[in-house]
Amino acid sequence: MTPQETQALIEQAIAAAQYAYIPYSRYAVGAALLAKGGQRYSGCNVENAAYPACICAERTALVKAISEGQRHFVAIAVATRDGGSPCGLCRQMLFEFAPDLRVLICDFAGKVHHDLPLRALLAHGFGPERLLEGA
Ligand code: THU
Repeated sequence: MTPQETQALIEQAIAAAQYAYIPYSRYAVGAALLAKGGQRYSGCNVENAAYPACICAERTALVKAISEGQRHFVAIAVATRDGGSPCGLCRQMLFEFAPDLRVLICDFAGKVHHDLPLRALLAHGFGPERLLEGA
């Protein structure tokens, strides 16, 4: 990724956070996922009165991308007010498609708190090769 591509991804994650539906936590999260072909998919967290039905920003971006035919990803930027880290569920769902994904954990000022591969965030992750023959 060029520095410009990295910056664009971070800015898109920050912008996506403005759409977060967060009446319960008041904790906005924005994400932007870069597909191998250069397409970017943004997402925000969407909460629900039935709390477990909430979806995180990262998974919103991922399911948008998957549902539009993408399967290969390069990087994700995640933006919060304090540089919060992706939850375990999001790590696991991203790991399914992109164990080597570059994860940029940022704050709304654009500061990068962490820039690391998903494998480092999800050590010894459980992946599809365990279940898919020949995968
Ligand atoms: N949240 C995310 O969107 N991504 C994460 O990886 C961590 C948590 C959201 C879920 C909920 O809407 C709020 O942050 C507080 O947990």
